[in-house]
Amino acid sequence: MKPLNAHELRRLARRRLPRLAFDYLEGGAEDETTLRANRQAFERVTLCPRALNDVSTRRQEVQVLGETWMSPMGIAPVGLAGLFWPQGDIAAARAAAAAGVPYVLSTASSSTLEAVARAGGNPWFQLYVIERGMADALVDRAHAAGYRHLVLTTDVPVSGRRERDLRNGFSLPMRWRAATVWDVASHPRWLAQVGRHGAPQLANLASTAAGDAQAQAALLQRRMDASFCWEDLRRLRRRWPHALWVKGILHADDARRACQEGVDGVIVSNHGGRQLDGAMASLDALAAVVDAAGGRPVLLDGGVRRGIDVVKALALGARGVLMGRLPMYGLAAAGEAGVAAALGLVREDIDRVLALLGCPGVSHLGPQWLAAGLRPVPSCTASPG
Ligand code: FNR
Repeated sequence: MKPLNAHELRRLARRRLPRLAFDYLEGGAEDETTLRANRQAFERVTLCPRALNDVSTRRQEVQVLGETWMSPMGIAPVGLAGLFWPQGDIAAARAAAAAGVPYVLSTASSSTLEAVARAGGNPWFQLYVIERGMADALVDRAHAAGYRHLVLTTDVPVSGRRERDLRNGFSLPMRWRAATVWDVASHPRWLAQVGRHGAPQLANLASTAAGDAQAQAALLQRRMDASFCWEDLRRLRRRWPHALWVKGILHADDARRACQEGVDGVIVSNHGGRQLDGAMASLDALAAVVDAAGGRPVLLDGGVRRGIDVVKALALGARGVLMGRLPMYGLAAAGEAGVAAALGLVREDIDRVLALLGCPGVSHLGPQWLAAGLRPVPSCTASPG
């Protein structure tokens, strides 16, 4: 059955994965307010289509830092993708490369960054700073392996409290409980794959001298170096010679400061609602960050489930979006083919939305397509009535 949309892909993922793996993918922090806010923000934005424009051809390629993406979307970094499919990072990277869109590999990946680079495409590398020496070593390895984009995640000074994971005992090493054993045992297809390929590891750390169990546990629990600050960003800028992005920015002043420190682009994100519960929806932060970034590319993630969401983000000034859960639903449902299906759905959506909107290409998107932009602006010279 070909899934019609993200809901159906999600259902397939949920059926195949044990609960502990599905909850890890799906969950947000605490009451999941921010997780929901990301979707609600998209639902609040409405568009105003234009009539009788020639939309017989519609273009969705975008230029980002001199590179062409075939669609204005990419795959966000997702740790432990091997939990969803054996060698899940490689499968997702291949699907992204085939679709002509970027794939961002997490520090917490289950294949090494070298193995993912060898699998082809042009993957990006996302950096968590657990310890500065370890981070420097990862940056140097990414450089040596041919990565050309580095994404520093800034919104994890400590781990958000994801209560689903706490309830399921999801940790390294796993805290097995009777319910977890039963959960895993009742998903034989998943279990057979894990049996064949081994339990997923945090491979980037396992292959370093520092790759002890403690470092792996710190990464899984996102126990980071909370003292990492603007001076460290400056140092990172000096160390990394290619494109540098900061991810997890919601405040315009932080975007401005990051640009002053020499980053090449900004990713507006609240980590898919997995960190600060109560943080604003990323879509609500977008316009001010775009303004502050002064022409540098801004990407958005958080809540993107359909092409219409991509179009709304672009109308609000994003150059493109990243997606975390949606391609991972595809990965969990059917491996590389499932990720390709997820990306294909969004690509088809964007094409149809552009036609229905009367817009010949994504480069034409801007605030003029937003219904909110049509509201009469109150005139300050009008007499009070
Ligand atoms: C993430 N995210 C994430 N971000 C990051 O910088 N490094 C990481 O290792 C991870 N790991 C991770 C695991 C899982 C299971 C999820 C769902 C998310 C956050 C991710 O990059 C992105 O910001 C959000 O997923 C975007 O929200 P949506 O698209 O999932 O709604």
